[in-house]
Amino acid sequence: MTQFTISTAITLLALGVLTQGTQPSELCSKNINAMTQGDLDAIKGCSVYSGTITIDNSGAEELALAGVEEITGSLILSGNVLLRTFQAPQLAKVKGELRIVNQTVLQKLQLPMLMESKVLNLSVLPALEHLDFPAGLTQVDDAHIEDTRAPSVTGFKPEHMHSFALISNNYMKQFDFSAVKDLSGTLHVASNGNALDFQANQLVSVETGDFRNVAQLSLPQLTRVSGDITFNDNNVSQLQIDQVELVKGTLTMANNANLVSASFQHLAKIGGAFSIGNNPQLASIDGFPALNEVDGTVDIAGSFDSYALPALQDVRGGMRLQTTSSKLQCDDLERKMKSDNVVKGTTWSCGANMDESQLQPTLGQEGTDGSSAGNRFPGAKGLANENGGKKGTIGGASGESGATSGTTGALAPAMAASWALLLAGGAAIFGF
Ligand SMILES: *[C@@H]1O[C@H](CO)[C@@H](O)[C@H](O)[C@H]1NC(C)=O
Ligand SMILES: *[C@@H]1O[C@H](CO)[C@@H](O)[C@H](O)[C@H]1NC(C)=O
Ligand SMILES: *[C@@H]1O[C@H](CO)[C@@H](O)[C@H](O)[C@H]1NC(C)=O
Repeated sequence: MTQFTISTAITLLALGVLTQGTQPSELCSKNINAMTQGDLDAIKGCSVYSGTITIDNSGAEELALAGVEEITGSLILSGNVLLRTFQAPQLAKVKGELRIVNQTVLQKLQLPMLMESKVLNLSVLPALEHLDFPAGLTQVDDAHIEDTRAPSVTGFKPEHMHSFALISNNYMKQFDFSAVKDLSGTLHVASNGNALDFQANQLVSVETGDFRNVAQLSLPQLTRVSGDITFNDNNVSQLQIDQVELVKGTLTMANNANLVSASFQHLAKIGGAFSIGNNPQLASIDGFPALNEVDGTVDIAGSFDSYALPALQDVRGGMRLQTTSSKLQCDDLERKMKSDNVVKGTTWSCGANMDESQLQPTLGQEGTDGSSAGNRFPGAKGLANENGGKKGTIGGASGESGATSGTTGALAPAMAASWALLLAGGAAIFGF
């Protein structure tokens, strides 16, 4: 009995020493700068590496980080000018950031086991043609994929995220974002391949959405936007986002050259501004049958014949409608808005039969910060800003009234008689 216990103890001791031998704690728990394959081979025994591994000044063409399954810090590769291939065959988890940036000749990136990385940043990888996560990347809070050559990404499977950015991937044709159900931060898709089909088929909620230069966009389950949502400069012909009920911030739809229809069947409330401009194929504004309340400004410009916001009861900011169509009945609209007290802001304007060149840019149509739009539509920027504290008036009593009358004066001569400008020195003539 005693003998057995001793031999067990000896065995355990031997095992312990053995474990120490393969994973000396000091070797596996520090931040290192690896320059050569030898440096990476030296940590092969560290299945858990407690620290950050940085590879940023290596002259190697090929590097493999074998044996390491988990990194408690970050893995950073940056500016290794000759590196063509990098693989981490056992790496499953990175608790910090997996950052692979500025690797101009990197063609092959193999991460067959990767399932988790708190932050994933793959940027400036202009030679990288394949971006795959064969094991399924199921946990990632923030992901940023910029300037790769990949036509698609496979195995991107997180359900919950904080932020996601897909930018300037010129060859990207398709991105399957369908695993993601919610983002507590920003979803930003811009400047990728002209044909990009971005599929977010299960996405229910997002804080901020910014979609630019996409050819197809699927957001069939999107229900809630807790900030702004922007659709600018896209080549989509159809935007069908019928489940969305609430946009807490501003909804902008501008410069979408081929947009034929925009359908938001359940959208009831917009907490910021509602702006639609320069979508030349959009013949009617009829995709918002449930829209009841807009807390900011309604600013719509285009070639629409009729106004069809049948449920709109409450516009707390001003309202500006501009159309090249001669069919829009501004007088009728004015009567309705007046008698029903729909528009609470002090500015109301409606122009029909306008020349294309007379249309003033809508909020968000120019630039991304609304700065120029603020000039064109006085006070609009303040109105759009939920925290701006200026909601409810355009010009009028706000601090921007000086700018209002100035801008109005400057614009007036350029306007045709059809442009029913109902501003008088910054105050509306409506007795709202
Ligand atoms: C990219 O890496 C190269 C080579 O190390 C370096 O000279 C350059 O400054 C890096 N660029 C950025 C933006 O970090
Ligand atoms: C990723 O890196 C790029 C370039 O260094 C940077 O602009 C971006 O903010 C980073 N994103 C994240 C989520 O770390
Ligand atoms: C936009 O889409 C149309 C078809 O809907 C296509 O003919 C055109 O080439 C696309 N434009 C760009 C810049 O991809």
